[in-house]
Amino acid sequence: MDRVVSLCKRRGFIFHSSEIYGGLSNTWDYGPYGVELKNNLKRSWWKSVVYERDDVFGMDAAILMHPKVWEASGHVENFFDLKSDCKSCKKRFKVADLKGSKKCPECGGELTEGRPFNLMFKTYQGVIEEAASAIYLRPETAQGMFVNFQNILDSKHPKLPFGLAQIGKAFRNEITPGNFTFRTREFEQMEIEYFVRPEEADKKLEEWIGARFNWYLKLGVRKDNLRLRPHGKDELAHYAKACTDIEYNFPFGWSELEGIANRTDFDLKQHSKTSGQDLQYFDNVKKERFYPYIIEPSGGVDRTILALLVDAYNEEKVKDDLRVVLKLHKDLAPVKAAVLPLLRNRPEIVELAKKIARDLKKNMVTVYDDTGAIGKLYRRQDEVGTLYCVTVDVQSLEDKQVTARHRDTMQQERVPIDNLKNYLEEKLA
Ligand code: GAP
Repeated sequence: MDRVVSLCKRRGFIFHSSEIYGGLSNTWDYGPYGVELKNNLKRSWWKSVVYERDDVFGMDAAILMHPKVWEASGHVENFFDLKSDCKSCKKRFKVADLKGSKKCPECGGELTEGRPFNLMFKTYQGVIEEAASAIYLRPETAQGMFVNFQNILDSKHPKLPFGLAQIGKAFRNEITPGNFTFRTREFEQMEIEYFVRPEEADKKLEEWIGARFNWYLKLGVRKDNLRLRPHGKDELAHYAKACTDIEYNFPFGWSELEGIANRTDFDLKQHSKTSGQDLQYFDNVKKERFYPYIIEPSGGVDRTILALLVDAYNEEKVKDDLRVVLKLHKDLAPVKAAVLPLLRNRPEIVELAKKIARDLKKNMVTVYDDTGAIGKLYRRQDEVGTLYCVTVDVQSLEDKQVTARHRDTMQQERVPIDNLKNYLEEKLA
């Protein structure tokens, strides 16, 4: 884990937020490679759940919502963790993590009784800080989809089963954030709310569990590092009837990447009751009006990025050298090609390499680098998972060919410059 964290900082994937001020604890910023990886991940998710299906529509709801949403959803009343403070060292703990102990795990001091702590971030809308203008940062993106259920019925006229998908920030005032980007107070979710007939809910839950598990496999995550864990009745969220987590074997243990829950008709019923708008679905073949059940696959962008980085991190011995290489799936790798001149003191080679990079940039994420000897440049690209290194040498000036080196096999092939774009596109397809 330490090596992955260090690589993330060294190579520009993830930085500590506000570092020049000593850092804001457990808050992270994505750097140039991190944001590419994140965008690629989100694109892959969107493609698989929106574009490749014909029953799921995309959405992008606002983070700020009417405060009544969170009363209806049960978050004002139920979205609590019990916290306990150490009277000596003043550290704060989640009661669930103390496993019945009454002593501080850090200093052995006496702990206060568990007190409920609402995880929602509260702020005020407008200029007056008063109860009437209190508003929350959403703790899940899901509610933005539930409150738009009627708008989707009216604008898209879908038949059940159908779903909504959304990627966006969520905020929770976690008592015990930690493990790098695993548990933070600001994070991004990828959520699907899939509306089904109640009698189909169990079957659709199983289908989604399978589909979501396979998506991680398709992204190249090692099967041995993934498992499914059904929730016990005592750990279900207040809205759920059943839930199965997809867990990853992180260096700090098996932990949740995504939860796939059967939320029943809880949310639509609650919003109907609180808003006074009837959110039932009308089946005009069977002439029935009812509340659909909701199957919800809900994953974390940041947690998936962390799992992908851990899974892709490899250290290999090459002759007497240690090669660190991020073997990220080709769709996820932040950079597809790096163009490197073999001799940086030869202007014709540098010019040709720069031109090749400029041309490739129109079709794929490409970087140009001439700031070191070739061995060092290769290592640098391996560390960020660049799929192909394209080397321009003296011979290239004469035979108009370059050397393409594959990241994982390190095998090299001479490719005509005229054909380079097609060659790489074929390899990346
Ligand atoms: N709408 C359902 C829901 O929000 P959840 O299990 O609380 O369910 C879904 O959250 C996913 O969001 C988790 O599986 C995880 O990937 C991500 N997530 C939740 N809390 C997080 C946190 N504090 N930091 C990072 N990711 C988090």
